[in-house]
Amino acid sequence: MKDYRPELSFGERVAATYRDVQRGDEAAAVAFLAGLAGTGPALELAIGAGRIALPLAAGGLRVDGIDFSPAMIAQLRAKPGGDRLAVTLGDFADVPVAGAYRLIYVVWNTLFNLLTQDDQVRCFENVAAHLSDDGVFVVEAFSPAYLHRLRDQQYVDAEAVAVDEVRLDVARHDPERQLLVETHVSLSAAGVRLDPIVTRYAWPSELDLMARIAGLRLRERWADWARSPYTAGSRSVVSVYGR
Ligand SMILES: C[S@@+](CC[C@H](N)C(=O)[O-])C[C@H]1O[C@@H](n2cnc3c(N)ncnc32)[C@H](O)[C@@H]1O
Repeated sequence: MKDYRPELSFGERVAATYRDVQRGDEAAAVAFLAGLAGTGPALELAIGAGRIALPLAAGGLRVDGIDFSPAMIAQLRAKPGGDRLAVTLGDFADVPVAGAYRLIYVVWNTLFNLLTQDDQVRCFENVAAHLSDDGVFVVEAFSPAYLHRLRDQQYVDAEAVAVDEVRLDVARHDPERQLLVETHVSLSAAGVRLDPIVTRYAWPSELDLMARIAGLRLRERWADWARSPYTAGSRSVVSVYGR
């Protein structure tokens, strides 16, 4: 997508829409992550508005975060407990923090917001450099099998159809660069709103190779936080890597 920069996807207006967003998997995700974190500390890459980090920290665990969007961090800070987390403004591929963590995690497909294989490998390498010896890296993302809905390398989904607004998800697929190039389109009396988002997806096998390059190995793989078996039909993948 010409002139696209990931920062465009997480400005003030979009950040406001993330403030109270729940995906329905929060309690299960927090239980899964807390079980791996032990006494911590934990680090969330792309912490956003704290959907996972805040309830995880509420159990007494130290949870730090990284995010490159001041608007998303402001949403986190405005929530109860949001001012107590240490959040670093920066690119999570660099893991620009000091020290070692028992748990580092990146959820909601966000590893795929790094748009090249090089950046994703760099992220794995920097994560490995910040894991304690018994530390683990958890990645939750969609399975590329989910692209089954493509027709001629594109799709248009009606996300919402109401009397006063229509919301469409318009996407094209670039199989060579493994990119899904999307714009969420809102049509209403207020006008036309466009929210672009580009993701570079990877199959679980490619994630495992990135982990190996970084000196890590797959420890667990599941379809979801409830540890359902990962199968060819799974929509999402939860992978746990350790040394
Ligand atoms: C879909 S939100 C997820 C937020 C949070 N992890 C959650 O699950 O609710 C994606 C977040 O990733 C951040 N982000 C995307 N690419 C980033 C990058 N390269 N470095 C730092 N933050 C990034 C965005 O600012 C946004 O807060």
